[in-house]
Formats: sequence, structure tokens, C-alpha cells
Amino acid sequence: MFRRYLRFVRALSIDLVGRAGVVLVTSSAVVFLLFLLGNLTGVVTNAYVGLLSFMVLPALFVLGLILIPIGWYRTKARTGLSLRELVDRRFGPEELEGGPLGAPLVRMLALMTGLNVLILAIASLAGLHFMDQPQFCGTACHKVMNPEWTVYQQSPHSRVACVECHVGEGVKAHFDAKLNGLRQIWLATFNLYRRPIPTPVHTLRPARETCEKCHWPEKFYGNRLKTIVHYGDDRASTPRYTTLSLKVNTSLEEGGIHWHVARGITVRYASLDDERQEMIWVDVARPDGSHTRYVNRRLDEEPRSEDVRTMDCVDCHNRATHIYETPVGAVEARMRRGEIDRSLPWVKKVAVAALSGSYPSAEAARRGIASNVAAFYRRHDPAVLAGKAAAIDRTVAALQAAWERNVHPYMNLEWGTYPSFLGHRESKGCFRCHNRDLQDETGRWIPDDCTLCHSILAEDASGPFQNLETPGEKDPLRFKKEYLRQEFLHSLAR
Ligand code: HEC
Ligand code: HEC
Ligand code: HEC
Ligand code: HEC
Ligand code: HEC
Repeated sequence: MFRRYLRFVRALSIDLVGRAGVVLVTSSAVVFLLFLLGNLTGVVTNAYVGLLSFMVLPALFVLGLILIPIGWYRTKARTGLSLRELVDRRFGPEELEGGPLGAPLVRMLALMTGLNVLILAIASLAGLHFMDQPQFCGTACHKVMNPEWTVYQQSPHSRVACVECHVGEGVKAHFDAKLNGLRQIWLATFNLYRRPIPTPVHTLRPARETCEKCHWPEKFYGNRLKTIVHYGDDRASTPRYTTLSLKVNTSLEEGGIHWHVARGITVRYASLDDERQEMIWVDVARPDGSHTRYVNRRLDEEPRSEDVRTMDCVDCHNRATHIYETPVGAVEARMRRGEIDRSLPWVKKVAVAALSGSYPSAEAARRGIASNVAAFYRRHDPAVLAGKAAAIDRTVAALQAAWERNVHPYMNLEWGTYPSFLGHRESKGCFRCHNRDLQDETGRWIPDDCTLCHSILAEDASGPFQNLETPGEKDPLRFKKEYLRQEFLHSLAR
């Protein structure tokens, strides 16, 4: 069989072009199958190798297939022989005996064509699959996606593929995404894309469809106790504890934060320039058929109809996966984890100042952060510099890593480029809608009182909140019972 194949291939390589075609087809197919094996067994995950094996190799394969008939055509033109005569000479007349389908040559050609189609089908499927892997999305256009890839790997969704959120379900969505991908390769190759990549992302898959595969809005009920630690700018970087009871309920009757996505509720809005920052109007439709429209009385712009958006998870959780920190947030998180040494005097203040300096490159940031921290102690507390050299080194290393995680000069991504909408600290967040400018015709605004979304059980307290001993309400016993009930409900919900 192999002998016969060799003879066939030799006969097929009619001239230089035909021979080049045969060599291309055979070698690209073999190398491709090796790469495929490597990818399936997890040995090869590198995006560039992937691009090579799943885009370049199949292209070479097809090119080879095209070259072979070109070789035959050229020979035919050069020698003036007919196709039949050429076949007779190259393969021998017995190859064409036995009628159109019985001829050994025709059968061999059919077999080869079948094999080629199979290889191409595997190549396209494997290529599509490869491009759906986060590794590919995150690293193929290394510089462009580096910020998202970096923060994604440390996020709660580091095991959720990029395409799960960014590409819709079905063939059309897939096809659109691949077309869009080609356009992006073009833009990336010629450096035509915008830096930073603009948000909001309008092509995101509908969040209700994505997120609800794993999260159930019905599951959020009761309150979620959240303790936030801030550190002071004083010598001891004194910790201060704020404890919120966040009303994460989805219930229609009791209200709560996830009310916006409760069954039967539709909140639609139009924003200036479609940026989701400044609202023009907000409209609520309720299950009983009633609806209210709140209009921004400071603006009188009528939106174009395509700018209207139905609120979903991403209007609050816009940073569910690509979570960037603020300088203060980054320092406080690392102090809490012990990566920044709290025994260093003034460390919170020094660290924030060093981190928020403006540095043109990662190299400059590494040097700048180290020299800023050292300069502070040299000026204010030289004993620390000598006595706590190891603690300073550790702190500096943590700050350098924090800078590289959050700031990406190549993409013009600085502190605060992508603020979170969850809450109202990093940006207007909830207050984009919950403010007194948005009013219905009776003059009622979307409520903004401080107890709508959370009770503040403790604010800037000197110690962690002691749940059961601190009466949060007038009647301590009732509070205690209520708290236990909430905890119990919450544990059921998990
Ligand atoms: C759990 C869902 C989810 C996953 C998984 C996910 N993203 Fe995103 N992505 C989002 C959301 C939500 C936004 C922000 C949308 C907005 O602000 O309009 C976003 C925005 C982006 C942006 C725009 C810039 C930015 O930071 O806002 C890029 C680029 C991006 N994602 C790339 C990726 C890549 C690459 C991966 C995989 C390594 C990935 N995403 C995985 C949900 C996801
Ligand atoms: C494939 C499953 C999956 C999808 C899809 C998914 N998530 Fe998650 N999400 C998870 C898991 C698992 C966790 C818990 C991770 C942990 O506890 O570390 C989580 C955690 C979260 C958290 C809590 C994070 C925290 O700090 O406690 C939020 C908020 C969240 N997801 C929002 C979203 C949003 C918004 C979307 C849609 C854009 C989404 N998720 C899509 C699986 C998913
Ligand atoms: C796109 C606009 C919009 C954004 C953004 C928004 N909300 Fe709302 N929210 C509304 C509207 C509209 C209502 C209903 C007002 C009414 O009663 O008619 C509402 C109601 C609520 C309620 C009360 C529900 C009830 O019936 O008891 C809570 C709690 C709430 N929002 C929390 C939040 C939180 C927390 C955020 C930010 C993470 C937020 N909202 C962001 C539009 C918004
Ligand atoms: C109105 C704004 C808003 C919308 C819309 C919204 N969320 Fe949330 N979500 C919040 C807030 C605020 C929290 C509490 C955040 C915290 O704990 O810091 C939260 C918490 C969560 C958590 C963690 C809950 C827990 O008990 O640990 C998950 C998971 C989550 N949301 C998923 C979703 C999904 C999925 C959707 C869409 C179906 C959604 N959210 C829609 C504001 C919103
Ligand atoms: C529309 C909902 C909403 C309203 C109204 C609201 N908050 Fe908040 N607030 C939030 C959410 C959500 C968070 C939690 C953000 C997070 O998960 O870190 C928060 C966080 C906080 C925090 C903790 C911030 C930190 O990092 O230390 C404080 C303090 C706070 N709110 C005070 C207030 C005060 C005071 C008011 C009244 C002027 C108010 N809030 C009104 C939704 C709201």
C-alpha cells in the first residue's frame, strides 16, 4: 500500500511546481498532525505555536494542493500532450483500465481527496477550538490583551473561558466573532487599535445569558455582611473597620440590590453618548404592568433609539473579571495579606505615594518605587533603613508587582482607567441612577438614602465588628435573632 502511495506521489510530481506542491502537502500534514497531538495532550499551549499550527500549516497544505494541478497544467501546455497521454506516461496505461470508477488511479484520487477533506476539517475544528481557549485570547496579541490577561488570571473567573462571556451562543455569534477577530488581527498588525481599549464593550454577550449559567439571581437573598479595612496615614498605619450589611436580595416584595434583575422587572436606560455614565432617562417596567420613567432634569437630550440599553449584571459588575485596583486599594489589600510589612512606620502613606507616582515604563517604575521608599526613610527615619532592610525589600517588591499588575504603559492604561461601578467609591457607580436629578413626573427621584442598599453596622471603628455583641438597632435581642436568621438563610442559599 505504502509502495503504491509512493509510486502515485512520484508520478503526481510532474515538474518542479508539482513536486513543490507534493512536498508542501505531505510535510504540512505531518507537522500539523504532530502539533495537533501536542495540543491535545497539553504539551503545546503557546499562542504563537498555535497560530502557526492552526493557521499557517493548513494554509500551506491548501497551497500545496493548488500547486499540483498547476504543475500538470504547465506540463500540458509545455509538451502539447493531452491529459490522457500525460497520465499514460506518468502512471502507465494500466492505471486507467476498468472504466471511469474501476480505474486504480481514479480510486486513489478519490481516496486522497477524502483524506485531504478530513485533514482540513480537523484543522478547522481544532483551530476554532484552539482560538476559544483563554490562553489564545490572552496571549496571541500579547501586548494588546496583556492587561486583561494579567488581571483575569487572578480573578474569581480565571477558569471561565474568555469566549464564555465575550462570544454568544450559536453558529452566527461564533462566525461574527471570528470575523471580528480577523479585523482585530488586522488592527493589531498595523497598530490601528485604540489604547486603552474603550469601554463599555458593546459586543459583550448578554450577561443574563452568560452569568446565569453559574449564578442564580434567585439565590441572592438575605444580607451579606462585608467588612472593609482601611489603614490610616499615621505612623502606625492604624486599621479602621467598616462593616456593611449589604442587602443583596432579589425579592420583589422585600426589594434589595438584585431587585433590578428579578423576574418581571425590566430597567431600561439611555445614556449620553452611549457611555453608561450620564443617564438621560431611566425606565422601570414592573410585573403588574405599571412603569415609571425617571428623566434627568439637567439634560434635555433625546437619545437615538439604538442607545437604549436594558440593564443587566454588567451594569453593576462591570469589573467581575478584569478587576483593576486603585493605589490605595492595592496597598491596603497587600497590607492585609502581609505582603507589605505593617511594622514599618508610615508604611501606608509611603507605599501609596510611591505607587501613585507617574512612571513612563515598568523599568522606571521598579527603580522609582524603590528609590521613593528609600528616600522617605532616609529623610524621616534613617534608623529604619538599616534596621529593617529586609522588610523594606519585601514591601518594595510587593509594590513593584502591584504596579505591574495594574498599570500598562503600552496600552495607556493608568490607575483608574477602568473604574468599578459596584458601589460608589471608585466612580459614581450606583449613583449614576440613584440621584436626585433623575425624577418622574411627580418629582419623585430614584431613592438615594443611605439605608436603601446597606445598613452601616460600623464605620471606621477601631476594632473588627463584633456581630452579636454590638446592637445594631434599638432592641439588641431582636437584632441578634434577626442576625442569626439572616446567617441561617444565607448559609442555605450557598
Ligand atoms: C466572567 C465574564 C468574562 C470573562 C471570563 C472574560 N471577560 Fe473580558 N470583559 C467582561 C466584562 C463584563 C467586561 C467589561 C464590559 C464593560 O465595561 O463594558 C470585559 C471587558 C474586556 C475588555 C475591554 C477592556 C476592559 O478591561 O474593560 C477586553 C479587552 C477583554 N474583556 C478581554 C478578555 C480576555 C482576553 C479574556 C480571557 C483571558 C476575558 N476578557 C474574559 C467579562 C468577561
Ligand atoms: C462558568 C461559571 C461562571 C460564569 C459564567 C460566571 N461566573 Fe461568576 N463566579 C463563578 C464562580 C465559581 C465564582 C466563585 C469564585 C470564588 O469563590 O473564588 C464566581 C464568583 C462571582 C462573584 C463573587 C466574587 C467575589 O469576590 O465574591 C461575582 C460578583 C460574580 N461571580 C459575577 C459574575 C458575573 C457578573 C458574570 C457574568 C458576566 C459571571 N459571574 C459569570 C462562576 C461563574
Ligand atoms: C441604570 C440605573 C440604575 C443603576 C446603575 C442602579 N440602579 Fe438601583 N434602581 C434603579 C431604579 C430605576 C430603581 C427603582 C426605583 C423605583 O422604585 O421606581 C432602583 C432600585 C434599587 C433598590 C430598591 C429596590 C426596591 O424596590 O426595594 C436598590 C436596593 C438598588 N436599586 C440598589 C442599587 C445598587 C446597590 C446599585 C449599584 C451597585 C444600583 N442600584 C444601581 C436604577 C438603577
Ligand atoms: C444593581 C446592581 C447589580 C446588578 C444589576 C447585579 N448585581 Fe450582583 N451584586 C451587586 C452588589 C452591590 C453585590 C454585593 C457586592 C459585595 O459583596 O461587595 C452583588 C453581589 C453579587 C454576587 C456575590 C453574592 C454573594 O452572596 O456572595 C454575585 C455572584 C452576583 N452579585 C452576581 C450577579 C449576577 C449574576 C447578576 C445578573 C443576573 C447580578 N449580580 C446583577 C450589584 C448588582
Ligand atoms: C444605591 C445603593 C447605595 C446607596 C444609596 C448608598 N450606598 Fe454606600 N455602598 C453601596 C454599595 C453597593 C457598597 C459596597 C461596595 C463594595 O462592595 O465595596 C457601598 C459602600 C459604602 C461604604 C464603604 C466604602 C468603603 O470602601 O469603605 C460606605 C462608608 C458607604 N457605602 C456609605 C454610604 C452613605 C453614607 C450613603 C448615603 C449618602 C450611601 N452609602 C448610599 C451602595 C449604596
